[in-house]
Amino acid sequence: MIYPALRRLLFCLPPEIAHEVALAALDRAPTRLLSAGADSSATPVSAMGLRFPNPVGIAAGLDKNADHLAGLCRLGCGFVEVGTVTPKPQPGNDKPRLFRLEKELALINRMGFNNKGIDYLIERMATRKSTTLVGINIGKNLTTALERANDDYLIGLQRAYASADYITVNISSPNTPGLRKLQLGEQLETLLKLLQENRDKLAQEQERQVPLAVKIAPDMNEDEINQFCDLLIKHRIDGVIATNTTLSRAGTEQSRHTAQAGGLSGAPLTDLSRNTIRSLANRLQGEIPIIGCGGIMNAEDAIGHMQAGATLVQIYSGFIYRGPQLVREIVDATISLNRQPS
Ligand SMILES: Cc1cc2nc3c(=O)[nH]c(=O)nc-3n(C[C@H](O)[C@H](O)[C@H](O)COP(=O)(O)O)c2cc1C
Repeated sequence: MIYPALRRLLFCLPPEIAHEVALAALDRAPTRLLSAGADSSATPVSAMGLRFPNPVGIAAGLDKNADHLAGLCRLGCGFVEVGTVTPKPQPGNDKPRLFRLEKELALINRMGFNNKGIDYLIERMATRKSTTLVGINIGKNLTTALERANDDYLIGLQRAYASADYITVNISSPNTPGLRKLQLGEQLETLLKLLQENRDKLAQEQERQVPLAVKIAPDMNEDEINQFCDLLIKHRIDGVIATNTTLSRAGTEQSRHTAQAGGLSGAPLTDLSRNTIRSLANRLQGEIPIIGCGGIMNAEDAIGHMQAGATLVQIYSGFIYRGPQLVREIVDATISLNRQPS
């Protein structure tokens, strides 16, 4: 596999430049090098009313503007999530805003929803050729006051509806001030009610039901998770993605980057995400499928998330450290898991 050699070169570049170079290379790479995970023996998974050819997806944030669907959709994943996209374009935080913690197999980012805006993303979605399922992850602009956040999510829902296979409501990024407050209490209730009512309207108008998922932080306690689950059930949400990045720095104390502000992802996140998945599964009792994300660096991590209650999984940091091979590894492991007598 050529990725370890390519990674050595990429890791000589500043992380954000390496990111752009890698995605451009992915778009141009021959399919035989990429479609590592496209295994016809993979077991399809039904969730959120959709049929996923396999349970492995690319998490949001890797392709914020749907600029790289050509490459990502040839990886053999079951699905790709693009965004987070906001109603208006915005530059995100000042650079540097992405840091590699190599020894810890981790990243810290405070990108701040840098993206070209929803109109651009929808144009890009119109050019997609692959049948790979694509979710659109929506967020709020930095300049929109928190009290008006629902307006931005509504614009996201309405604009994304016709193009998306599913829509993710991102209220768990640590890099937009106050955003995580939307995960709780009355604010969550009002947001979910608004989105659900409008989803019903759109479903009727467009004669197509697009599933809605909500993405959660790994930093909530058991009580908060339980309240969150009850509201998801009450408002007929179709899926929950667990998790986004963490504010914790446990396991990275030795890194020179540990004090950087932002969200931590990769290996130090595995257990936190898994605990969140387990708590969600306990409360949801199978009523809403869980998409496990966070610290999946190998097949064992993915299987662990599934055994904790995830139906599907997503990767981001693992993909940066391991490349396309990680997709194949996880798909193969889930095939073996399904073959094991129960
Ligand atoms: C550089 C970077 C940018 C990200 N941007 C987003 C984003 O825009 N929206 C989102 O929902 N999650 C975003 N994430 C979070 C990932 O989707 C994922 O939830 C998190 O990194 C945990 O998974 P991992 O440990 O496999 O990386 C981002 C993560 C990283 C590292």
